[in-house]
Amino acid sequence: MLIVAHHRAQASNNVDDAISHPRNNENQEHPDQRVLQQRIVGGTVVAKWETYPFMVRLPAGCGGSLIGKNVVLTAAHCVEGKWAPDHVTLGDLNKKEGKDETTVKVAKVIIHDKYTNRPATNNDAAVLILDEPVDITKFPPIKYDKGQNDLSPGRTVTTIGWGSTSHNGGSSPDLREVEVKITDQSVCNKKMNGDITDQMLCASDTGKDACYGDSGGPLFDRKTNCLVGIVSWGIKCAMPDREGIYSRIESFHDWVTETVEKNGGMWCDDCVWDGKESGNGSGSGGSGGGVVPADEGNDCEKCINILEDSIDKKKCKYSCKLQSKLGTDKRKFRSSCIRACKNYHKKKSRGTQKECCKKTGVC
Ligand code: ARG
Repeated sequence: MLIVAHHRAQASNNVDDAISHPRNNENQEHPDQRVLQQRIVGGTVVAKWETYPFMVRLPAGCGGSLIGKNVVLTAAHCVEGKWAPDHVTLGDLNKKEGKDETTVKVAKVIIHDKYTNRPATNNDAAVLILDEPVDITKFPPIKYDKGQNDLSPGRTVTTIGWGSTSHNGGSSPDLREVEVKITDQSVCNKKMNGDITDQMLCASDTGKDACYGDSGGPLFDRKTNCLVGIVSWGIKCAMPDREGIYSRIESFHDWVTETVEKNGGMWCDDCVWDGKESGNGSGSGGSGGGVVPADEGNDCEKCINILEDSIDKKKCKYSCKLQSKLGTDKRKFRSSCIRACKNYHKKKSRGTQKECCKKTGVC
């Protein structure tokens, strides 16, 4: 994706032909696959996946953002029909290497009930509920815009993805990032042939844009660490007289919240991404990890979640809370919390213990 060569606009008479949206290729392969063989043109490579630990990769070549412990927000057009993913990947940097990747199964795909793709893509959003919560010490979710984020024209926002590096370029094996600026809604509407609705957010900068294969990925504000948009559509990529179009999360945040809550999604209110690199999730302690101390009880929390007995649950929870209140240093807190949970599990059958080990990896 991104930082596309600044070529002169070839004013197309048939604008629709060039719209970078899968529906124009309905009977062909997914457009993101279509460009795989072609050439990569520059861009800014993200050096570590830990920089953006909420970034998710969908198998069909789209992005997504982790917004809860088991919740991904992506574009509807990325997951409709045959593109519905059965799993997602976290911790991905180079698509081909898969060094630190974690794969999680998808339990449910919920597309925005007002999603449409003609005449223009609108309400392009979908929630994926994962089979199990991820390890949030490694993958802290990003908070999303419920109306609190400044979306004034000119404000700088960032988008990331593995998409094409130019309109004619191939998708990138490396995760890339680019900064663009929010565009005034009516200016954008004029540039985009009147197709812009209140559910869209426009952003651009000279020679910079999201492109094919970046869809579903995040548009976020580095000053607030808040997710404000979802890569949705465009007309070619980085065209001087065009805009990158994102789903405006603020406009349907109620739908996101309700959908997550109705479908068994788990929030992570006190452990959202704080803009820093995430820790490695293996007990590295307080050395600049992206997670606040209270989150270090996460493994413990996962243990709690699979405890069936409600009294055990309570006791275990209490023990975790106590540890966090005592303000024990991160590493100590983590291990004593896990120990407390393990002790409760010991009382259970070996089967339950095994399940705990498998699910949490802490035993
Ligand atoms: N629809 C494209 C995809 O499926 C994303 C296009 C974004 N285009 C743009 N010029 N900003 O990946």
